[in-house]
Amino acid sequence: MGDITKISESVYWVGVKDWDRRMFDALIPLPQGTSYNSYLVQGNEKTALIDTVNPGFEEQLRQNINRYSKVDSLDYVIMNHAEPDHAFTIQSIMNSVPKATLITSEKGAKMAMVQYDVPEERIKIVQDGDTLDLGGKTLKFIAAPWLHWPETMFTYLVEEKTLFTCDFFGSHTAAGFYSDEVEDLIPMAKRYFGEIMMPFRKLGAKALSKIEDLDIEIIAPSHGPIHRNPELILEAYKKWTAGETLEKVIVVYVSMWNSTRKMVDRMVQELVRAGMDVKVFNLENSDIGDIARELVDSRAIVLGTPTVLGGMHPLAVYGTYLVKALKPPAKYAVALSSYGWGGGSIKQAQEMLSGTKIEILGAIDVNGPPTDKDYQDIEKLSAELVGKIRENP
Ligand SMILES: Cc1cc2nc3c(=O)[nH]c(=O)nc-3n(C[C@H](O)[C@H](O)[C@H](O)COP(=O)(O)O)c2cc1C
Ligand SMILES: [Fe+2]
Ligand SMILES: [Fe+2]
Repeated sequence: MGDITKISESVYWVGVKDWDRRMFDALIPLPQGTSYNSYLVQGNEKTALIDTVNPGFEEQLRQNINRYSKVDSLDYVIMNHAEPDHAFTIQSIMNSVPKATLITSEKGAKMAMVQYDVPEERIKIVQDGDTLDLGGKTLKFIAAPWLHWPETMFTYLVEEKTLFTCDFFGSHTAAGFYSDEVEDLIPMAKRYFGEIMMPFRKLGAKALSKIEDLDIEIIAPSHGPIHRNPELILEAYKKWTAGETLEKVIVVYVSMWNSTRKMVDRMVQELVRAGMDVKVFNLENSDIGDIARELVDSRAIVLGTPTVLGGMHPLAVYGTYLVKALKPPAKYAVALSSYGWGGGSIKQAQEMLSGTKIEILGAIDVNGPPTDKDYQDIEKLSAELVGKIRENP
């Protein structure tokens, strides 16, 4: 029986599938778990390990490596990214393999010393374009900073045209081995992009243009399936990093007694009628990964929140904060709100969204449940929003 973990002549996948994990960064839900992909590259003379695994899986990584080689014979550990889901196990490997050298970027070196106690003299810093000879196999390092931490880089195995990109091109799912076998690859990758890469999409675009002329047969990220037909994910990343938006509106709202909800419902009806692609999320029970995914290419955002204690509902504060932090390419927003006496939510929404590139086209603040006149205002605002969305591809 063949072993699919041998992904090319000299590369073995020695990673771990974490089916049980349900949260990442204490923030992002993982409906399908995730994987920590670590790769062993065997040259004629030297052996390198590219990235490691999450805390708790050290033993499994060791066992996986030992199937093909010996942990003790590792010459190099390549750290493309210092976050603990890929780098935590570096500490125990460096401790148990005295001859191993850690290879990373300049910023990565500092992080390895601070976070994983790797002694400075055991770290070799690589610059953009540097190469490492493993004997018949060459690793080339490509600076790709801020994807999504400052120290990130890619590693390219020249002879086998394999690009190791760590988080970039990844997806949080334990399912599948090759991406062409995974039915929901693009939605999962898009969700991951929205959560992790969207705030850095300009730098993502820069990294893409840097690898444009590289001959790539395999993209091996550190989460989710491996891309042995990389065109699909490259095309998707081109669009997502460029911030290409569609005639699409994401609606995020919360309502305690349904007044805001009625306003939102009418707005949604109008937008659907006008042919917009509308994605609606009640913040009370939404998965923020789904919201991040839809933010990747929505051209407008509708925010609905009642006034609570002089400001927005706390869930709407959370939702708006996330939108701000994720820096989606959306161009327009409108706010819908209901209040009981003094209001205050709209003012806070405007404050929160100021300083972003999102233009607030209008806000409707209603005392109690909406009246016929309020519905007319909502229809007008919806028409205005549709007009803007249409004129601005
Ligand atoms: C816990 C709570 C706090 C509220 N605080 C305010 C407030 O500070 N100012 C105000 O004008 N209305 C306040 N209201 C009234 C709501 O904004 C009002 O009932 C609104 O119509 C609710 O909209 P909804 O049906 O979409 O939940 C509060 C209501 C609740 C339940
Ligand atoms: Fe990361
Ligand atoms: Fe990661």
